[in-house]
Amino acid sequence: DFEYPHTFILLGASGDLAKKKIYPTIWYLYRDNLLPEKTKFFGYARTKQSISDVREKSKKYMKVRAGEEEKFEKFWQANDYCPGSYDKRVDYEILNQSITKFEKGPIANRIFYLAVPPTVFEDVTVNIRNACISIKGFTRVIIEKPFGRDDVSSSKLSNHLAGLFKEEQIYRIDHYLGKEMVQNLMTIRFANQIFGPSWNRENIASVLISFKEPFGTEGRGGYFDDFGIIRDVMQNHLLQILSLVAMEKPVSLNPNDIRDEKVKVLRHIRPIKREDILIGQYVGNPDGQGDEKLGYLDDPTVPKDSVTPTYALAVVYINNARWQGIPFILRCGKALNERKAEVRVQYRDVPGDIFDGHAKRNELVIRVQPGEALYLKLMSKSPGMKFDLVETELDLTYSMRYREADVPDAYERLILDVFMGTQMHFVRNDELTEAWRIFTPILNELEEQHVKPVPYTYGSRGPSEADKTLANYDFKYSGSYKWNKPTIH
Ligand code: BG6
Repeated sequence: DFEYPHTFILLGASGDLAKKKIYPTIWYLYRDNLLPEKTKFFGYARTKQSISDVREKSKKYMKVRAGEEEKFEKFWQANDYCPGSYDKRVDYEILNQSITKFEKGPIANRIFYLAVPPTVFEDVTVNIRNACISIKGFTRVIIEKPFGRDDVSSSKLSNHLAGLFKEEQIYRIDHYLGKEMVQNLMTIRFANQIFGPSWNRENIASVLISFKEPFGTEGRGGYFDDFGIIRDVMQNHLLQILSLVAMEKPVSLNPNDIRDEKVKVLRHIRPIKREDILIGQYVGNPDGQGDEKLGYLDDPTVPKDSVTPTYALAVVYINNARWQGIPFILRCGKALNERKAEVRVQYRDVPGDIFDGHAKRNELVIRVQPGEALYLKLMSKSPGMKFDLVETELDLTYSMRYREADVPDAYERLILDVFMGTQMHFVRNDELTEAWRIFTPILNELEEQHVKPVPYTYGSRGPSEADKTLANYDFKYSGSYKWNKPTIH
């Protein structure tokens, strides 16, 4: 299909996501010659402006290296902007006419990227369906969270979409599925005999999946406050990682075989219980610098009495033969001490200990970011005359092992997947339904009972209770292991 005309239509082209993420992404794909040669880009939004205004606004987010200037000009020549309202069909008819002009030949495909606020989502999708679908090729639509805010609103949205498009046309983005190490999870698990046989409740004590960010909501508080960290990160990004860590081996690498297994493992999870969740909200650090001084409630866009969590630690159990009783701990927070996303698969203590309790647990760590790495913490004899134990690791740090490798950004990968028509790394409707089934009751309970989150200081490791909670769920943290950052010689 790559020889035919393609049109990429970005709705919400004047917004933040468009200028910061989508325009740069399509530029990088264009620059690297990854898209069909005859691809035309259209921006659509309410703002009356020209394509050069769009260019100007996204400028500081786009990298143009020396020698690429000409290509960059060509990229913008392939771009157009069409102002219009979100709710008037005639505006979409005009958009459709503009697109059609470039669609020479028997086949032409269209991809719509919806970077629009949830309030106009229904109007936009109906109008695309009525006035803009391709009549001589495929039409695919990319959508972004929020996919509703609970089970009821999400299924309403799903039904709405299902009335307009087939599931094969809908690409629900969870950009964590575009990350290198998240994509690597299946290979690590299913292409290595060393892990398969021990990947179960007999050998693994607990699994910790965490996301940390060193900054707060900083101005985005208005949007965030209605959602909170559980909907923003845990219900989507962390749960997606969990499915890939815990699912059974799929029948094949076919996207629907994989997604069948992801849904199956989610179906074994019961809704999260009140006693299995700890929520927090950051407060300013009086000794900090700049934004660190400000707590979540100091954000002018946040209501003063908000109980929205900016940190959450929740434990889920997968009630199947492989995992029954094993805690999967999901932990995420903003305004913490560092940026990190990782999975820690912690093995059980060795039975029949002969080392006086000195042996620490094995841990397989999959670091998603920053700096992709896979390492296995293990015990070894200390080198030399002594017969002591040392904690050490088998280490696959990407920057060391693959020095030349260029790991693509998640959005680049995912948008390219849409052109190719592969849904492997996109969320299927039934996965979403399961995710909301697991999270809705606890979200409602926290809201109805107005549960106050535990305060933690901006820049800290999170609420101090969290360490004890981890220990209660059989995740041992001894603090004795030292990661030696590998140096390049
Ligand atoms: C988004 C959340 O989905 O993911 C943001 O809405 C969060 O709150 C972001 O900051 C994190 O993405 P990344 O790729 O920087 O880890």
